[in-house]
Amino acid sequence: MTAPAVPLETAPPPRRWDPVVKLTHWTIVGAILANGLITEEGSSPHVWVGYALAATLALRLIWGVIGPAEARFTAFPPSPARALAHLREIAQGRRSQHASHNPLGALMVYAIWSTLAVIVVTGVLMANAPAEAKGPVAAPPAAEAAAVHSEAREPDEIGEEAEEQEGAEGHGEEGPLAEVHETAVNLLYVLILLHIAGVVFETRRSGRRIVLAMLPGRR
Ligand code: HEM
Ligand code: HEM
Repeated sequence: MTAPAVPLETAPPPRRWDPVVKLTHWTIVGAILANGLITEEGSSPHVWVGYALAATLALRLIWGVIGPAEARFTAFPPSPARALAHLREIAQGRRSQHASHNPLGALMVYAIWSTLAVIVVTGVLMANAPAEAKGPVAAPPAAEAAAVHSEAREPDEIGEEAEEQEGAEGHGEEGPLAEVHETAVNLLYVLILLHIAGVVFETRRSGRRIVLAMLPGRR
């Protein structure tokens, strides 16, 4: 006799996530750390890390359609109703199993991915936009200032000064893309804090060391 099929929603959680989920998770974490802490905003390393992040996110999203059952979107649908039910469950001290992210975690995952998508789209648009489309550029005032004090100086010296000023001031007043990019980055930081708090909370509540499932090691 075969055992009755367990519905995916209530099947036991993965002992280990599959290698693609693990790899994309930690690559995305690395890219965010690199662009948030190390690369200079808008520099070519920033943009290259950005493209790597975009490719990794795309891979994870494709995996959400063709990957193993627990990695698929169908295993963790974005459902506020289920998330509320999950909150009630927490309040009542009940615990049910989820083959993938729990319903609250699922909402967080989609929120993080959507925010990353906004960051990627605005970043790519800025990276490919002509300078003036990014917002009023610092160059004209710098060039003006240089023109006023330009007696007895070579034109390339003036150019250098203008460049230095632009470097110090970034791209001057921010264009709408940069505003959206930055706001999304700040939102992402809030989501990440909540995500890590959620992981700690779930580890304590369930007694399962869910971080282990995301670390290298056999499934
Ligand atoms: C999650 C990863 C990322 C973080 C933490 C991040 C962070 C930032 C921040 C804080 C700025 C300054 C925004 C401002 O001017 O106020 C910036 C600018 C910029 N970012 Fe990102 N970024 C990320 C991803 C990307 C991606 C994916 C791309 C494109 C492939 C990108 C391209 C750019 C460009 C071109 C600018 C220059 C904006 C300007 O000209 O002022 N970024 N980034
Ligand atoms: C930049 C910071 C981070 C971001 C953007 C992030 C994002 C994500 C995303 C999108 C997922 C869903 C994975 C998938 O289905 O592909 C996830 C899951 C997970 N993350 Fe993170 N994460 C970050 C940092 C961390 C850290 C520092 C830890 C460890 C303390 C961690 C532990 C986990 C765990 C355990 C899961 C699986 C949760 C579950 O069992 O449902 N994450 N994270």
